[in-house]
Amino acid sequence: MSSSLFLTDISQMLTLLGPPGPRRGRHLREVGLVTDAAILIQAGRIAAVGKKKELIRQISLREVRHLSLGGHVVLPGFVDSHAHPLFLEPRLQDFEKRLEGQSYARIAREGGGILHTVSAIRKAGPRKLTDSLRKVSEKFLSCGTTTLEAKSGYGLSHADEIKMLRAFCGANRTGPLELIPTFLGAHAFPPERKKNPERYLRDLQPMIREVAEKKLAEFVDVFCEKGYFSLEQTRRIFETARKTGLRLKIHAGQFSESGAVRLAVEYRAVSADHLDHLSASDIQHLARSSTLATLLPGSNFFLGSSRYPPARRLIEAGAAVALATDFNPGTSPTWNMQNILSIACTQMRMRPEEVLSAATINGAYALGCGHRLGSLEPGKQADLIALEVRDYREIPYHFGANHCALTIKKGRIAWSHGGKSMGGVRPEF
Ligand code: NIG
Ligand code: FE
Repeated sequence: MSSSLFLTDISQMLTLLGPPGPRRGRHLREVGLVTDAAILIQAGRIAAVGKKKELIRQISLREVRHLSLGGHVVLPGFVDSHAHPLFLEPRLQDFEKRLEGQSYARIAREGGGILHTVSAIRKAGPRKLTDSLRKVSEKFLSCGTTTLEAKSGYGLSHADEIKMLRAFCGANRTGPLELIPTFLGAHAFPPERKKNPERYLRDLQPMIREVAEKKLAEFVDVFCEKGYFSLEQTRRIFETARKTGLRLKIHAGQFSESGAVRLAVEYRAVSADHLDHLSASDIQHLARSSTLATLLPGSNFFLGSSRYPPARRLIEAGAAVALATDFNPGTSPTWNMQNILSIACTQMRMRPEEVLSAATINGAYALGCGHRLGSLEPGKQADLIALEVRDYREIPYHFGANHCALTIKKGRIAWSHGGKSMGGVRPEF
């Protein structure tokens, strides 16, 4: 069969076309809308995009496989740039305790939280990890995510952290969902090092070197927060990581303001994530830097917080804002980016165009992949989704739904609503 795929009957296509680099300020609203659109995919890449009328004149229909999308809206697959997708078990006890009014910090102190998941991961063999990742990947694909960051951080020992990263590499080779691995050994201090944090900081050094040498991750991330890693400890980890050539990310200002944003900018971290607690000068620093401001409002929502990151102030100052799920068992157990877009609109007053840019092209830049992912332009990887709506603003508007009808990864159908019958999507050969 031909490796060309011609998609037509697209009521609205959001190309996200624009100059290279993440979108900032008013450019975050530029989604590159084309109505009555079509798209040609060849050998896994986008070959042409535009009005159906014009594209049909340029190509020979006999040489391509033709798929009518029945008036759906098409956009680049979501690039979810902050996720902890491997945790095996939900933390339902933590959930119930929080509903009774206990804080995330108290639950963690009393044996729940990150360390609870660490004990599950430590006990599991590679097969169990692979099975869990396969199931989770399906869920992300079904909701329109085509690229997902995958943080370690539930092993917290040399062997268990490497075991997690190897599971990501394995899943990447087999599944259609693309995982971008991040080493998060500095997620918490493991129980056996509680009394000797200095020793864990020393343990992290050979781990980071091995991760870099064996190319097991693209990024090193640190949970810089009261009760976790201090600013000074984070700086030391960044120093080690920088020497190995790994790029940096940081959990900054999730529960308190710690100066983590300044550090991220100083070390040219690719992104600073969460940003619930930010000073006015932090906003200015981010706006003048290349560091993306990745907001994770699913975690604010799920923790029942009335505080959200200051998205409007960040956008207006000129920071490059990305949105991600933060999929994890403690603070944001959703794999549906569409939920995040609704929360970002209603709770942070972002516009539909802004949330869509933040979850596609800016998500791609937050993973260092903006040159090949995040927009529908000729030459880029053919990662795109068709959603069962007529107007893209319906995506955040009809909240709590999954509008995704079709997910295409590297030019191949990776998931479709209703399996072979493809729901509202009519295959034509
Ligand atoms: O991004 N903040 C640290 N990490 C996660 C929570 C992880 C967990 O609770 O297991 C977050 O919210
Ligand atoms: Fe996180």
